[in-house]
Amino acid sequence: MAKLSLGVLGSGAGSNMQSVVDAIAAGTLDAEVKIVLADVPDAKILARARRHGIPCRYLDCAPWKTKLEGKAEDECIRLLKEAGVDTVVLAGFMRIVKPGLLAAFPNRVVNIHPALLPAFPGVHGWTQALDYGCKVAGVTVHFVDAGTDTGPIIVQKSVPVMEDDTPETLHARIQVQEHIAYPEALRVIASGKYRIEGRRVLIG
Ligand code: GRF
Repeated sequence: MAKLSLGVLGSGAGSNMQSVVDAIAAGTLDAEVKIVLADVPDAKILARARRHGIPCRYLDCAPWKTKLEGKAEDECIRLLKEAGVDTVVLAGFMRIVKPGLLAAFPNRVVNIHPALLPAFPGVHGWTQALDYGCKVAGVTVHFVDAGTDTGPIIVQKSVPVMEDDTPETLHARIQVQEHIAYPEALRVIASGKYRIEGRRVLIG
């Protein structure tokens, strides 16, 4: 068991970051959130971090719109290292991370995706599942590799798709499971009792 030093990257509401903070406060996850970075200046995730007294910063990612690269990536790595982060938690971070960040934290960047990968990578996984006519949808927490939403899977949770679902109601049902799945995946990492064999994360 090793206490995790987390650095959270987000762009939005920060409800997943909140679930991690709550698990730590409840004593069910041995970790500390060292810093929160957001690529949107007024992202709610920053306000949440401030409320909890967690150091946080806006990360200017210009000129890129969809990725974390160049000077912004360097600055991100610098801030994470300076804060003593050992595990990077992507929590609604709407940018593709590049090899620089992955090399700085080998096998220590995790992401949450609102679909049962490998189905429906990319944006709005829940809408893709609904439009496809799936009867089951869900969430995946995975290590990040060089692809988009392709890394080894740590935890998955499923939810039913109801006939009267809208994208909003389905996303809300998935988010309930997200908030269980992320602390669970981080507990696996904190336990140290796992190994990555090819695509498989073998736990225990
Ligand atoms: C979640 O649905 C997550 O799976 C996706 O973006 C959303 C972020 O929500 N990657 P929040 O900012 O954690 O509330």
